[in-house]
Amino acid sequence: MNILGIETSCDETSAAVVRDGKIISNVVASQIKWHQKHGGVVPELASRMHTEKINRVVAQALTDAEIEFSDLEAIGVTYGPGLEGALLVGYTAAKTIAKICNIPLIPINHLQAHIYAAYTDPIPPQFPYLALIISGGHSIIGKVNDHFDIEILGSTRDDAIGEAFDKVSRVIGLGYPGGPAIEKAAKDGNETAFRFAIPMKNEGYELSFSGLKTAVMTTVKGFTPENVPVHDLAASFQKTIADTLIHKTQFALAESGLTEVVFCGGVSANSYIRNRLRESLEATGARLIVPAFQYCTDNGGMIALTTHYYIQTHPNQVPKVSGVKPNLSLCV
Ligand code: KG4
Ligand code: ZN
Repeated sequence: MNILGIETSCDETSAAVVRDGKIISNVVASQIKWHQKHGGVVPELASRMHTEKINRVVAQALTDAEIEFSDLEAIGVTYGPGLEGALLVGYTAAKTIAKICNIPLIPINHLQAHIYAAYTDPIPPQFPYLALIISGGHSIIGKVNDHFDIEILGSTRDDAIGEAFDKVSRVIGLGYPGGPAIEKAAKDGNETAFRFAIPMKNEGYELSFSGLKTAVMTTVKGFTPENVPVHDLAASFQKTIADTLIHKTQFALAESGLTEVVFCGGVSANSYIRNRLRESLEATGARLIVPAFQYCTDNGGMIALTTHYYIQTHPNQVPKVSGVKPNLSLCV
């Protein structure tokens, strides 16, 4: 079965083909260089860029998979959460293709799709397992009981971790997107140069990152602009994020008795955090599953793969499609 997946929730226009549960093609057109000069994602610009790119991206995904529209049997599309105008572009394209090809349209939750990116691992996670969904807009610790049956154990009260990376990056002069820039700068820094506290350390599953961002900003103010220790600050901030995720994950494992953890969302592309988390979990006998690098940040592959699992677990059911949901929650 050939399934097309379309993703346009933020600043990547992406389409992919999944065949029998395997990603065959995955085309991602990033808009980063257009948003970079504005220091972050500009919603109107994102919608316009998606409109310009969507047809070519979908065509390329089909070409790479060596199929045509008539070979498709289903189509999945991100319907939320995300930027409304951006979501509408992918959604409208998907609805049109579904209508023309007379195939079912499956609306996909972007946050659930980040978890499904982990099903690209040759040994997929076994239910129930923990999921850390750590992206630019969300930071959630969830318990996945079964396909499409997820409980939120805790989430951030304010900034998401990706958002904190982006804001700290701007303050120390590294630009957008902050995650990759901080990871690169941190390689030449001393991670113990500055000691930032683990936020919400004794507050169970609760997360919060706005205080950590403010602590970095306050530290920066102690230096003249030309003397800001960019590398040490990047390394110390990144270490605190890793320490926090390790602390919260170990707490969650101890509380729940679970033994497998999926780490996903854009921040899971960070090799330092992946490695630190993996070492910590292996030391306690737990297993960490992280999607391959190209499936960590937004991509159509994870949307098409989620569609595959939806169809497998909901045979002959086509969900009612009722537009995009910019504020969609993980659990619906
Ligand atoms: O999942 P994603 O592509 O989009 C959302 O759903 O939000 O995540 C984007 C976020 C951005 O905040 C970006 O700075 C962060 O993921 N990110 C990283 C890295 N690569 C992307 N954060 C830390 N280290 C990275 N290497
Ligand atoms: Zn995402």
